[in-house]
Amino acid sequence: MTDQLRAEVRDHYARAALAVIDGPGCCSPIASGEPAFGPGLYTPEELGPLPVDAVAASLGCGNPTAVADLRPGETVLDLGSGGGIDVLLAARRVAPGGTAYGLDMTDEMLTLARRNAAQAGVDNAVFVKGEIEAIPLPDASVDVVISNCVINLSTEKPRVFSEIARVLRPGGRLGVSDIVADDDLTAADRAERGSFAGCVAGALTFSEYAAGLTAAGLTGIRLTPTHAVGDGLYGAIVAAVRPQAGSPAEPGDADAAAAGLHAARALPKAGAVVLGRGSAETQACGSSGSCCG
Ligand SMILES: C[S@@+](CC[C@H](N)C(=O)[O-])C[C@H]1O[C@@H](n2cnc3c(N)ncnc32)[C@H](O)[C@@H]1O
Repeated sequence: MTDQLRAEVRDHYARAALAVIDGPGCCSPIASGEPAFGPGLYTPEELGPLPVDAVAASLGCGNPTAVADLRPGETVLDLGSGGGIDVLLAARRVAPGGTAYGLDMTDEMLTLARRNAAQAGVDNAVFVKGEIEAIPLPDASVDVVISNCVINLSTEKPRVFSEIARVLRPGGRLGVSDIVADDDLTAADRAERGSFAGCVAGALTFSEYAAGLTAAGLTGIRLTPTHAVGDGLYGAIVAAVRPQAGSPAEPGDADAAAAGLHAARALPKAGAVVLGRGSAETQACGSSGSCCG
């Protein structure tokens, strides 16, 4: 099942990349009008200097570079970098002297991302093929791990969390955008609301996210919901830190899930969309069904 789901995810995003490489971009604000996924989550100042195809290929559910507080000279790793939008934004923020790595398992996405980086004239972005469950970078080599709507797509999330903890330097930070589910939603409820490749069926609840990060040894955990994307489903920023050797877990960690859930339930409800199941957005994106949603 794990291999089959992963193959479905790879195929879904290969088609999404090819839709941009071969034709008009999917999921642009013009194409979809849908604010929950894609480039509508970035400011015009961020999007302005980027190649059209980097914007068109944006399939995220937040803007992790806006919250990751990136600094010149840092090494950043984007898990599931897709067409490269967050890597290009991060590369500019860590220059001079820093490097932004993008990791993705889908060849077509890597081709698109490398082309976008060349078009953008960004020379401190490096795109690497691999899986986020086995990150091909050395221990303690990264200052900041970012990711945008990808961890929900993993079939082995505990491995992803322990790989994040391994590659982060002590004191290194995690800043991720992801879909997070209300604690009341069972796995069956989530599967009913959307597909795995569409970023819904595999979404963790607030409690599961906080527990997974804690089990991997991360601390300073914060789950900040930003917008509702469906019934009991939210776009959220997930932040954490790899502690310095010997430092204890932060006291707030135990309350992180409850605080995130409380804030999520106070958000305005999403419009009536069923993500990843023939929604208006998916139809707008053409027969490739290439949106994360
Ligand atoms: C929803 S798209 C998001 C892309 C990008 N982060 C963005 O914001 O546009 C998911 C991306 O993650 C990649 N991906 C999914 N599961 C992965 C895994 N287990 N390992 C590596 N890449 C993965 C897919 O190939 C795809 O490019």
